[in-house]
Amino acid sequence: MRIGIFTGGGDCPGLNAAIRAVVRSASTDDVKVLGFRNGWRGLVDDDFAELTRESVIGILPRGGTILGTSRFNPLKDPDSIETLKYNWQRHNLSGVIAVGGEGTLSAARDLHEQHQLRVVGVPKTIDNDINGTDFTFGFDTAVSVVTDAIDRLHSTAESHHRVMVVEVMGRHTGWIAAYGGIAGGADVILVPEHPFRVSRVCDLLINRKKDGRAFSIVVVAEDARPHPDEPFLSDDECSRIYRHDRLGGIGEMLAMEIERCTEIQARVTKLGYVQRGGSPTPADRILATRFGIKAYEMVRAQQWGVMVAVRGNKIVTVPLTEAVGEVKFLDQDIYKIAEVFFG
Ligand code: F6P
Repeated sequence: MRIGIFTGGGDCPGLNAAIRAVVRSASTDDVKVLGFRNGWRGLVDDDFAELTRESVIGILPRGGTILGTSRFNPLKDPDSIETLKYNWQRHNLSGVIAVGGEGTLSAARDLHEQHQLRVVGVPKTIDNDINGTDFTFGFDTAVSVVTDAIDRLHSTAESHHRVMVVEVMGRHTGWIAAYGGIAGGADVILVPEHPFRVSRVCDLLINRKKDGRAFSIVVVAEDARPHPDEPFLSDDECSRIYRHDRLGGIGEMLAMEIERCTEIQARVTKLGYVQRGGSPTPADRILATRFGIKAYEMVRAQQWGVMVAVRGNKIVTVPLTEAVGEVKFLDQDIYKIAEVFFG
């Protein structure tokens, strides 16, 4: 038996742990694993290397992905699909494990449904925005980066009596902002799920100052938007900040607005790709390992068109059709917890 594996979409900590888990469980069965490079692209370009026990030595703690990644989608080009199918048959692959986020897994669903390709999905993303699973690996590491940054920003904010605005990733959801903000003790957390009134944010900060706490930490998710009743961004600024494929910049505009309204000095820290890099936390290593083992089990059982997932503390599978297509927005119970600590 021969199987393929690849990693697609934005990288995140834990990808190598998942690859290692698949390769180690396959090697106990003498199953050959071909690692395709740079997402779906590797299957089209026939760019691969055989992965053995030796090739995964030492990769568990490493960030990124030894296979490389890309956001290439073969469904956007009929020739690519034909080449991909040709390579698949030539290698006599029994199935392929697609490790990816929404884009990669949507392509997996469509290739399975429309072209009967035998795929198993493994969800990864720092954003934690994939339906059908409580958590994705990469998220815990990103949250720990945000928490560490907020801890560090607290001391400098306090010394200078400043407002520190921390812009975090998360694409269209506020998972990283809410978890990182709660863990770091942020005074305000702004998420895409709740358009914010900047006057309310400023009132909270002014009241804190009146109460003797002149420093504050404001966490803002990259896609958090001002409430339409209180716009403070021009159309140009909006189109620069809220681009689907490259969000970023709300932190800077918000800090300027806060400084203008409150007359408290404000500074901004955009955490950016630091959240995606580096070694995975133990929780991400374990989740990625559990996902990798389960994905291999599904391949052995010839259960195609499914994604591995965690529900509660159990590793389960869900049909890819249920997992992709819609974003999993921030759990409102979590946001309510965050709100208790505002101000
Ligand atoms: O999906 C993960 C993520 O890091 C998002 O949080 C962010 O908006 C996006 O990827 C950045 O994508 P790229 O790597 O294409 O700049």
